[in-house]
Amino acid sequence: MHRPAMRETVRFLLGDELVEIASCDPTRTVLDWLRLDRRRTGTKEGCAEGDCGACTIVVGRLDGGRLRYEAINACIRFLPTLDGCHVLTVEHLRSPDGTLHPVQQAMVDCHGSQCGFCTPGFVMSLLALWLSERAPSVQRIEDALAGNLCRCTGYEPIIAAAQRMDADERERDRFVAAMPAIIARLKALADNETISIDDGERHFYAPATVAALAELVSAHPQATLVAGATDVGLWVTKGMRRLDPVISLGRLDELRAISDEGDHLRFGAMANQVAVREALAGISPQLDEMMRRFGGEQVRNAGTIGGNVANGSPIGDLPPALIALGATLVLRKGSERRELLLEAFFLDYRKQDRQPGEFVEAVLVPKLPRGALFHISKISKRFDEDISAVCGAFYLELDDAGRVSEARLAYGGMAGIPKRAKAAEAALLGGSWDQASVTTAIAALAQDFTPLTDMRASAAYRLKVAGNLLRRFLIETTRPETATRVAGLLAEAAHG
Ligand SMILES: Cc1cc2nc3c(=O)[nH]c(=O)nc-3n(C[C@H](O)[C@H](O)[C@H](O)COP(=O)(O)OP(=O)(O)OC[C@H]3O[C@@H](n4cnc5c(N)ncnc54)[C@H](O)[C@@H]3O)c2cc1C
Ligand code: FES
Ligand code: FES
Repeated sequence: MHRPAMRETVRFLLGDELVEIASCDPTRTVLDWLRLDRRRTGTKEGCAEGDCGACTIVVGRLDGGRLRYEAINACIRFLPTLDGCHVLTVEHLRSPDGTLHPVQQAMVDCHGSQCGFCTPGFVMSLLALWLSERAPSVQRIEDALAGNLCRCTGYEPIIAAAQRMDADERERDRFVAAMPAIIARLKALADNETISIDDGERHFYAPATVAALAELVSAHPQATLVAGATDVGLWVTKGMRRLDPVISLGRLDELRAISDEGDHLRFGAMANQVAVREALAGISPQLDEMMRRFGGEQVRNAGTIGGNVANGSPIGDLPPALIALGATLVLRKGSERRELLLEAFFLDYRKQDRQPGEFVEAVLVPKLPRGALFHISKISKRFDEDISAVCGAFYLELDDAGRVSEARLAYGGMAGIPKRAKAAEAALLGGSWDQASVTTAIAALAQDFTPLTDMRASAAYRLKVAGNLLRRFLIETTRPETATRVAGLLAEAAHG
C-alpha cells in the first residue's frame, strides 16, 4: 500500500507573516490562539458557539486557480485546520500609514458602531463581502450580515455602511492588489503530504487526498472526523469534550466538487452550504430560500453537506429536503464504496448506518422530474440563523388523471431522526391532490409521529405545524397560476 509522506507542521499566512506550528492541541480554537497566544484581541469572543459573529475573521483559500475569501467564526474553527490558508483579522485592515480601510471608514461615516463590541466582527463580514462581490444588493448585504448580532446600534446604519462601500475603490484595494502574490505563496505551501501533529498527548491528522483519508479512517476508526466544525466545534467549546484523534477533511478539495450527472447532482461531502445552496437553487426556489436561512454566512461558509447529514441531527435542515428528493449517500471504507438511500442511513436518535472506518464521500441528489411537485418549509423561533423546530419537505408526482402516484413527505423535528411520514403518504396515494385527501393525510400524521416537547416547541405545536405545512404545500401547488404551469408541464411530459 502506498503511504503518503507525513508533514509534522501546520503552515498558513497570517496577513503577510508565514506561521508554522509544530505542536498543537488538535481542537485549539483559532479565537483562543489569536487572543491568548498572539494577543490579537481585536477579534472578540461573544457566544463561543457560532451565533453572534463577534469573532468573525476572513480566511482565504485556493479554489481552483483563484483565491476565495470567506468570513468564518474563529470561536469554533480549530487552529490546525487553517493549513494552506490566508488569515486576515481586524488588525490587518488599517494601512501602515494609519488610514482606515474603506470598510472601516464606511462604518465610521454611517455611525455603524456604539459600544463597539460587535464592530470588528461586522467589519470582517463586510470585508469578506467587499473582497468577493461588486455592488451587492440590500438582500445580499442582509444575508452576509445575518450571522452578526449587535445589541445597541441597530442594523440600519451598518447596512448603510455596506451600501456606501465604493465598488470603484475596491479595484484599488490593497488586499485585492495583493491577491496574485498571496495565490503564489499559498500554491508554494500546498503539497500532498498528510499533516500529522500533536500536543504531546492528542493527535491531529489532515490528509491531502481522499485515498489518504480512506486509509487514515480505516486505521483510526474511533477518530472524530471534522469537516467545517460547525457542529463539532460546539462539542469542544460548550460540551468541553477532549477529542482524540481528530481527522480533518478540510484539505480535500476533491471532496468539495459538485457535478451535474444528467438526472442527478453529485455533491462531494465537503461542499459547503454556500455552494450547496447555489446548486440546489436550480432544483427548487424553495430550497434556495431554506438555505438562505441556514445558519449565518459564517456557518454556511464552513458547514458542509456531509457534516449536516453525518451528524444525524433530528433537526438538521438538509436531511428532510434530501430524503424528499430521494437522495442517496456514497459511503466509503478503504477502497470499497456502497450506496445507501439517505432515509435508510438514519437508524435511531444519533445512530446512523455508518460502519467503523467508513465516511461519507458524496451525496447524490436526483433532479426534479418534469411535472413533479416539491415544497419545503422551515419553522424556527427566530427567522434567521436558527435551527428548525419543524421542517417539512414534500415531493409528489401526479398521473395523467391528476391522482397522486408517488409521495415522499419528510420531516425534521418530529422524531428522533429525520423521517418520512409513511401513513400520511399512504393516505395521499391514488387520491386527488385536493383539500379532502390532505385533510385525511394530516390526520394520519398522528400515526407517523409522537413528537417531543422541548425548548423549541411543544409536541402539540409540532403536530399542528406539521399538518399546516402539508396544507401549505397544497395551497402553493394548486394556486391558479401554479396549477396552470403544472398542468402545462404534465401535458408536455405526456406528449414526450
Ligand atoms: C450558529 C449555528 C447555526 C446553525 N444553523 C443551522 C441551520 O440553520 N440548519 C442546520 O441544519 N444546521 C445548522 N447548524 C448546524 C451545522 O452548521 C450543520 O449541521 C453543518 O452542516 C455541519 O457541517 P460541518 O461540516 O460543520 O460538520 P462538522 O461539525 O465538521 O461535523 C459534524 C458531524 O459529521 C461528521 N462528519 C463530517 N463530515 C463527515 C464525512 N464526510 N463523513 C462522515 N462523518 C462526517 C463529524 O464527525 C461530526 O460527527 C448551525 C450551527 C451553528 C453553529
Ligand atoms: S463568539 Fe459568537 S460567533 Fe464566535
Ligand atoms: S455596537 Fe454595541 S453590540 Fe453592536
